Amino acid sequence: MDKDEMRAFMGRFMEMTTGAAVLGVVAVADRTGLFRELQGQGPLTLSEIVARTGFQRRYLEEILATLSAAEILIYAPEGESYCLPDEHAACLADESSPYFLAGWSQMVPALYGAIPGVVEACREGGGVPFSEFGDDMIEGIARSNGPGTRLMLTRKWLPAMPDVVGRLESGIRVADVGCGSGVAALTMARAYPNSEFHGFDVDASSLERARLAAQEQGAENVFFAQVDGGSIPSDPGFDFITTFDVIHDVVDPLAVLGQIRAALAEGGAYLMVEPQAGDDLEENLHAAGALTYALSTLHCMTQSLAHGGEGLGAAWGPGRAEQYCRDAGFGRFERLEVANPFNAFYRIGG
Ligand SMILES: C[S@@+](CC[C@H](N)C(=O)[O-])C[C@H]1O[C@@H](n2cnc3c(N)ncnc32)[C@H](O)[C@@H]1O
Repeated sequence: MDKDEMRAFMGRFMEMTTGAAVLGVVAVADRTGLFRELQGQGPLTLSEIVARTGFQRRYLEEILATLSAAEILIYAPEGESYCLPDEHAACLADESSPYFLAGWSQMVPALYGAIPGVVEACREGGGVPFSEFGDDMIEGIARSNGPGTRLMLTRKWLPAMPDVVGRLESGIRVADVGCGSGVAALTMARAYPNSEFHGFDVDASSLERARLAAQEQGAENVFFAQVDGGSIPSDPGFDFITTFDVIHDVVDPLAVLGQIRAALAEGGAYLMVEPQAGDDLEENLHAAGALTYALSTLHCMTQSLAHGGEGLGAAWGPGRAEQYCRDAGFGRFERLEVANPFNAFYRIGG
């Protein structure tokens, strides 16, 4: 046995363990609003933070110690102060920032609840259905995907299809399939008031959140309905259809892709956004790949297998995506030039 390799592995493993544990404390700081309290304040002492937040001193002391040791906060021993640097605040306190990451601290712990079900399914088959992941998962998805979508969708992603943007501005019928909490549909509805947006999803709780958000936004050109992607209406058809992180989750991807094709009006375009991954395991042997496979094992794949589905998995690359689209009857498949570390963007049609 190579002891150096073992020690190196122990170091890597303990880094993962530390991250997993610290993320739980990040979740506490996120949900209590502690990050927002520290944002833009510069260095503050424990007493000042207690006075600001009204939180229990002993809890704050331990939380601040965790976050300082993890270098999320900068601790200055001379003044015994804690500071959340602006760069970290953009990721943890400012939900309107495209760099906001704290949603992951809600989503990842929600995945851990699926472990017993995945263990059982691993032995017996089946899986953990979406409905068992609970509200933290739904909100976690919205808070992880939402900030990037709100900022980038109309500024960077859709402009990769200038003709579609022109049509959206003029006024067309659009469907977002697997709309979740409605972030993408609502973002487009706000940007393109002449167009009409229909968000479809199978999950009632997600749709409830979407409808509430539409109400709060006063959006009159967006409608949400509980419809399976395999049954979306095709008459009248839609000029533009989108799916954001959906196709790999569905029970029957080919059926959903086939129905999207059927529901696409003459000359319409379909934008499929999927996790950024290669087609083969060898291409995905890095940290982002590990994250994608882990999310897939504990959520994407299992919730599809729970319904006897295909369990496609989140890490499918452009080659397989194209094959599925061709099998569903699409003639056009093009990977769009959109710089994004998390997702791949495909324009599909015909
Ligand atoms: C990972 S979430 C993505 C949600 C949203 N598009 C986003 O980007 O935040 C996948 C969504 O697909 C929905 N979904 C899964 N299977 C579906 C199906 N067959 N038809 C419609 N929606 C489905 C789930 O309920 C969930 O809201």
